[in-house]
Amino acid sequence: MFENLKKDALKQIETANDLQQLEKVRVALLGKKGVITEQVKSIGKLPPQERPEAGKILNQLKNEVEEAIEKKKEELQKKESGKLSPKLWVDVTLPGARRRVGHRHPISKTLEEIETIFVSMGFKIVEGPEIEDSWHNFDALNTPEWHPARDEHDSFYINDLLLRTHTSPVQIRTMLSEQPPIAIISPGRVYRRDYDATHLPMFTQVEGLYVNEDVSVAHLKYVLERFAQQIFGKERQIRLRPSFFPFTEPSFEVDVSCGVCGGKGCQACGYTGWLEILGAGMVHPNVFKNVGYDPQKWTGFAFGMGVERITMLKYNIKDIRDFVRNDKRFLENF
Ligand code: PHE
Repeated sequence: MFENLKKDALKQIETANDLQQLEKVRVALLGKKGVITEQVKSIGKLPPQERPEAGKILNQLKNEVEEAIEKKKEELQKKESGKLSPKLWVDVTLPGARRRVGHRHPISKTLEEIETIFVSMGFKIVEGPEIEDSWHNFDALNTPEWHPARDEHDSFYINDLLLRTHTSPVQIRTMLSEQPPIAIISPGRVYRRDYDATHLPMFTQVEGLYVNEDVSVAHLKYVLERFAQQIFGKERQIRLRPSFFPFTEPSFEVDVSCGVCGGKGCQACGYTGWLEILGAGMVHPNVFKNVGYDPQKWTGFAFGMGVERITMLKYNIKDIRDFVRNDKRFLENF
């Protein structure tokens, strides 16, 4: 009795291969209109003497089927919990999320290059304070009270102190604390009240100072030419043009030959063939006097360059303000 029903029910349960299908099987067997349920209902139609026996068998069958469903359910749940739902499927062939790599700032990069070049020529790196007094920033550098560089509009003053307007005060501090021969460069930030496409109120300079006996303009030119060729390229040349700085005599503006036209003249160099890169000169005797050096015995050269300017020339950057905009699309190029 009911043997076929049982066999069929167990087979259906066994072949269900996911929880959804198993649920369908359960409803078909034990639901309100399920086959087994119908059988149970129909017991009442049997002759009274057959009812207890049929009831017993059917009850047992129902229990067995329920147990089998429960067992199968556990089995399928275990299997399916190990799987990801299709909603969470990942296409492993897609390229990964890109992690952006940080970049050195172009100014830091150029500064490090400049330092490496001068260190290889025997210069030592010295740093000085960004907040200076006017004696170190001006007076000791032979820059008298009336000089336009002392105009309040060019400098940031804080009572008697100021943000240094150049790295030249480090020359003074070094000569006060050391005796010649001296060969130093001094990198650092300087401050002026200026802001446009070629000026920032805070920018970076590298000062150079060489003091020894019998130093001449030829030494200055040699060192700066080596520098220019290492930072811009072997084929570059430099020239010295007469200029004026209170702390050097003679003073020069130093130009490098244009890398675009090779010196013939083009738009990049304003049709002159040359690009200005720095200021330089022979240390003024008054500067030596101010630090207690004998100007009869000691001679020297000094130079000062803007790192932003060098970087702009090297990479053909048109607006100095790009260095401080923190735009990754710009910074990523270096
Ligand atoms: N200090 C000068 C400036 O800031 C540059 C300079 C340095 C010139 C040393 C000559 C010698 O413009």
